[in-house]
Parts: sequence; C-alpha cells; structure tokens
Amino acid sequence: MKKVFSALLALLLVFSLTVPSFAMTRAEWDAYLAADADAGRGVVMQPGADGSQKNFSWYVPAETAEVCVDVATSPDMAGAVCFKGNTIPTYQGDKAAKVTVTGLEAGTTYYYACHTDGEPGGTYTFTTPAADRFSALYVTDIHITDGEDALAETSLKWNEVLTQAQGKADISYILSAGDQASSGLRAEYVGLTAGQAVKSAAFALTFGNHDRKGVDFKYVKNLPNEYYGLVGDYQAGDYWFTQNDVLFLFLDSNSGSGTDHRAAVRAAVNANPQAKWRVAVMHHDLYSGSIESREDEAKLMRALYAPLFDEYHIDLALTGHNHYYSVSHVLYNGKVTKELHSGDTVVNAPGTVYMVSTSLTRPREAAPVFSDRVAFGLTDDMSKTLYNVLDFTSDAITVKTYDFGTGELFASFTLRKDGDYSPKTISVFRKIVSFLTDAVGTVYAFFNNFTVYNKLKDNGYDVDFLDAVNNNCLTERRAAR
Ligand SMILES: [Fe+2]
Repeated sequence: MKKVFSALLALLLVFSLTVPSFAMTRAEWDAYLAADADAGRGVVMQPGADGSQKNFSWYVPAETAEVCVDVATSPDMAGAVCFKGNTIPTYQGDKAAKVTVTGLEAGTTYYYACHTDGEPGGTYTFTTPAADRFSALYVTDIHITDGEDALAETSLKWNEVLTQAQGKADISYILSAGDQASSGLRAEYVGLTAGQAVKSAAFALTFGNHDRKGVDFKYVKNLPNEYYGLVGDYQAGDYWFTQNDVLFLFLDSNSGSGTDHRAAVRAAVNANPQAKWRVAVMHHDLYSGSIESREDEAKLMRALYAPLFDEYHIDLALTGHNHYYSVSHVLYNGKVTKELHSGDTVVNAPGTVYMVSTSLTRPREAAPVFSDRVAFGLTDDMSKTLYNVLDFTSDAITVKTYDFGTGELFASFTLRKDGDYSPKTISVFRKIVSFLTDAVGTVYAFFNNFTVYNKLKDNGYDVDFLDAVNNNCLTERRAAR
C-alpha cells in the first residue's frame, strides 16, 4: 500500500512539473507589466487558417524595417526558422507587426520569439493539438478596462481565469466572443495580451461593440481568411479557421450586413466541405432573454442570423454582449426542436445550441429569465464568473462550464453526431425573407458606418474617412503595396 502511495505521489509530482502554471499575485503582475517589454508590445498569437498555421501580431517602433517570428522545437531555439511578415502604420504613429507561421505539425511542442529588427522578445511555447482531439476555452466580455487600478485588476483577473482553465485541459484556442476591451484602447489590449498564459494558446478575437469604441483592434488582430464584403466595419471583417474537422466561423455582429455575413459563411462552408462541426462565434446574443430593454436588438439579431445558422447547419453558436450565462435548447427556426438539460448528451441535434457566457469582469444584477428558449443558466447568484472548456473529438463536442470562484463544474452538455445525422433544409420562403432581411441590414450597416466614423472623430481619432465608410481597410492595402 505504501509503495502504491509513493508511486502516486511521484506521478503527481511529475504531472505538476509538466503542466506549467502562469498564475501571478497582484504584486508579481504589476512588476511584470512594468518591466517586461513584451507586455507593453502586446505580443499575441492568434489562429492561422488551419492547425498548421499560427498568426502573430505586436506593436513595433515607427522606424522598424523587418519583423519576423522565430520558431523552433527546442527551448534553446536551436534550428529556429524565421517567418517574416509585414507592418502597418498605427493611429499612434508607430506600427503593428503581423506575421504568419506555416508548416506546423500536429501534436508538437514549439517555442517562438517575435523579432523586431533582429531584436528578439521573450521566448514562449505552445503545443499543437493531436489530429483527433483538442480543447478550447470559450469566454466573453473580458472587458479589460483602462484606469489606474482597473487595468491591472481586470487583466490580472483574466490571467487568473485563463490559468485556472489551463489546469482543466490543454487549451489550444481561446474563443473570445467580443468586448475584449472596454474602450478599444491600446492599453487595454496590451493588458489583454500580457502574461505567459495567453501566449500559449491561439487567441481568436471577436469584434464587440466596446472594441469598436477605439481603433486598436485593427492593429492587434491578425486573423485568417478575413472577409469584408460590401460594407464590413472599418476594423474587422468576418473570418474563419479550421482545426481538425471543426470549422470556426467568426462574425462581426456590429455590422448588420446580412448579405456580407451570408457570403462569408457560404464561402467558408464551401471551402471546408469535410468539416463535421460548424461553430459560430459572434458578439451579440440572440435568445438569452435576460435584459428586456435589449429584446428589440435581439429580435434583429434573430432575423439576421437564425436563418443563416439554420441554412448552414451551425451546431453551436457562442455569443456574449448580454453578460448573463445561458444555454438554449436545440433551436431551429426560433423553436425548440429538442430539449437540453445540463448533463445531457444530444445525438444528431436538429438545430443549433446558442450560448452566452458571463462577463469575466463585469457581472450584472440578478434578473429573471423570460425566454422559454433558455434551457438552463444563471438566474440567481450573479457573483459567479463562469468560463467554458470545450472538448472536441471527431464525433462529439463537450461543453463544460466552470465556476471560477470554486473551480468546480457548473454545468455541461455534449453534442454528438453519428452516421444518421441529417440536417434540415430551410424552406424557399425563409430563404426569400432572409435575402430581403439581409439586404435591408446591409443598407443599415452602410449608414451605421458613418455614425461610427463620426463617433471616432468626436473621440479624437484622426481616422481616414474612406477607411471608415468604405471599409476595405485601405490603410492596410496601401501599406502592403
Ligand atoms: Fe460587454
């Protein structure tokens, strides 16, 4: 018995040594933010087009001529390969570096360092997922907030949540459903991307209404397969990437252009016919129904996105904005097609499950859930901060929601598919109505971009009018020429 105990103890010790923890106290965090150059540069790894690629971005001085990311399989960077990228000018007068690393192999640990004119930053590590399974963290409304104490408090809380989540699973991706920054300020994105923990997973950003208050999202993001369409927003388009047999679709729900979103989703789905699972991520929620004053906005979101998600068989929609945790039943055409309860496994779900998670730093007041589409969620204790670990295998997605305060499981469910999966086909009538709704939304989005341009000007941003209303990221295009 003693021998078994000793062996278990040794195993535990080995395990604790092989799973790095990036937790920090407030004093350590303050010291890190003040002293580490990479913390101020906003170095962040983001998804590439598929599992074999990763994108990187960071701020560099205006005079920078060359940027590259060194990648190696050895911690001493022996045999490193340098991937060069380009820079775009920022509103603040310096530049943002953007680099794509390709040729990564599954199930491999890599080390990387971002170089600015030959000067390497810190060395970080990440491990690519195996070919048959991976895990992702879904969070939303992180709301890093500028301010003397607020910046350190909110960014440290984010680091704590991420660190705890990394103890639950090997997190390969962070699926963030928007409002990463409260005012869209550089300091907030720098806080968001500080720390070692965030640099070990690909950070999939979503453009939220708060990110839209500033202009730095445009510099921080380096996203694959971006699509701006006719009237995409000044800073962000829709984008997609794949990992194993999962297609992740990220939609900029600040833009009401259903025509653009439809084109983006259609192109992504057509480019990935092998993808077994389709997961949509966007900021605005559709069905959570806890804020009555936002119900009109939610109805507009339903009119634009529900037909789209039904037509393209989205399995899971991850959203935010609302700050109230909720998980819907399986829905199709706005109706419950299959009930879902925490702990359930749904096989061949006839529709989409829509989720909202809590804000990590901005809890709401208690409110009644008035939507009968909500399957389960948080209605009483609003002090909880929740985060979600998604485990993907070839035949299932398991969503496990954890309570950050206790570290314990709060709720879970599994979606499973087998050979009998046969998604519904939407009616011609709904397609026609949807086409018209999309067109109206596109006209609205065009004029809404003028409003956004004026707000940015009012807030002191010297943004380019054509960039803001023509929305084809002309600055980036000019810089790339
Ligand atoms: Fe928010």
